[in-house]
Amino acid sequence: MKATDFGKDFLWGFATSAAQIEGAWDQDGRQPSIWDTFARKKKLNGKHRDHPSIACDHVNRYQDDVRIMHDLGVNSYRYSISWSRVLEYDSRGFSFKINQSGMDFYRKLSDELQKKGIRPFVTLYHWDLPQILQERGGWTNRDIIPLFREYVSAVTDHLSPTVKDWMVLNEPIMFTLLGYGIGMHAPGKKGVKNLLKSMHHANLAQAMAAADIKKKSPQSRIGTSNAIIDIQPFREDHKGDILSADRYRALFSRAFVEPYLGMGYPTEKFPMLQKIEKYFREGDDWNIQFHFDFWGVNHYSRNRIKTNRWFPYVKGRILTPPSGTETTQMGWEVYPEGLYNILKWMSSYRGVKNIMITENGAAMEDVPEEGRVHDPRRIEYYKAYLSSALKAKKEGVPLTGYFSWSFLDNFEWAEGYRPRFGMVHVDYPSGERIPKDSALWYRDFIAGK
Ligand code: FCB
Repeated sequence: MKATDFGKDFLWGFATSAAQIEGAWDQDGRQPSIWDTFARKKKLNGKHRDHPSIACDHVNRYQDDVRIMHDLGVNSYRYSISWSRVLEYDSRGFSFKINQSGMDFYRKLSDELQKKGIRPFVTLYHWDLPQILQERGGWTNRDIIPLFREYVSAVTDHLSPTVKDWMVLNEPIMFTLLGYGIGMHAPGKKGVKNLLKSMHHANLAQAMAAADIKKKSPQSRIGTSNAIIDIQPFREDHKGDILSADRYRALFSRAFVEPYLGMGYPTEKFPMLQKIEKYFREGDDWNIQFHFDFWGVNHYSRNRIKTNRWFPYVKGRILTPPSGTETTQMGWEVYPEGLYNILKWMSSYRGVKNIMITENGAAMEDVPEEGRVHDPRRIEYYKAYLSSALKAKKEGVPLTGYFSWSFLDNFEWAEGYRPRFGMVHVDYPSGERIPKDSALWYRDFIAGK
């Protein structure tokens, strides 16, 4: 397998997100996000009490980071904007002004990337809501839709035309389910009502903000980034397992694809999801539709579902990986076929004409040795997943780009700094970066070696 097998215009990049790498949490007037607050309250990574306040200190080291990316030869970079760095709200979260130095940071970053021939792909929301807006209910309050549109319009006004490629939301299923449904992520809310409201508001906010950008700058390309897990029934011929897997697929994946394509929510035979219609207002059916220029998929592993009637709503549970299979530091099964399966599934929608892998990678327990990090298992992971992607592409899946998760080791949300996903190692006390063997492999692969 060679990089050129994917086509000469294929995009090869890295992905990161603001809260996970930036640090500088209160620098130059930045206000707290829900992750700053949540991490303070929880004991993330046990006694270490990990917190995103410094992270990889990327805000102060971005020039070096761009240089490393350039040396590794990527032609694109996916990163996100921290909402609470660029807008400054009043104490009630009703009005705001632009925080110019926050905006300037992103302008300098995108200029620097461009200078080095790296195309910026900007995610507008990667989970770090301003805390002040959470005080108003966050994604459960329908006011989030106009608030989000104002924010997006401020960012796109400042960063277009340097930035032409946008992803509006990152993994809306994850921030709504983990953050508002089961309380594992910020802001730590629970309950099915919170979940359904936040899902619907996130979908509407995404579609409406996307339409706003398109209207103002028709030349920009607008996408989204969904978590697409390969969901399989545990027993292929077991009706209960099949139905439970269908419900998981409806909630995790279809609910964030089909409304945009004019198909509505996949509510059939799924009583919980039917309740989402309670939060509909006139015009929503129409406003939720948007034709994305590209569909990002974030993919890591598969989930096998076994029926279980005591399990709320989805009536099935996710099994642990089969014994003897390889897993990563997250406990996720290494299952390269999954990437092929989900690419085929995404491309089966007629309205999906361009797909990019906006995240894929593996956390491993890396240990630096004399200035090097040997991570052969990560290299194998990438090779296997990329061959699976290539197989799908050869069968006609319109795949146009690949972003490795992640450029740097970083703050892995509720897991803190323990999982190391980077192709570049970060020594947190000193901030020192060491490209791992996988980064050198990626460099050579992209260069066609
Ligand atoms: C995805 C997130 C990303 C990172 C990876 C491991 O769900 O989008 O921020 O945490 O998982």
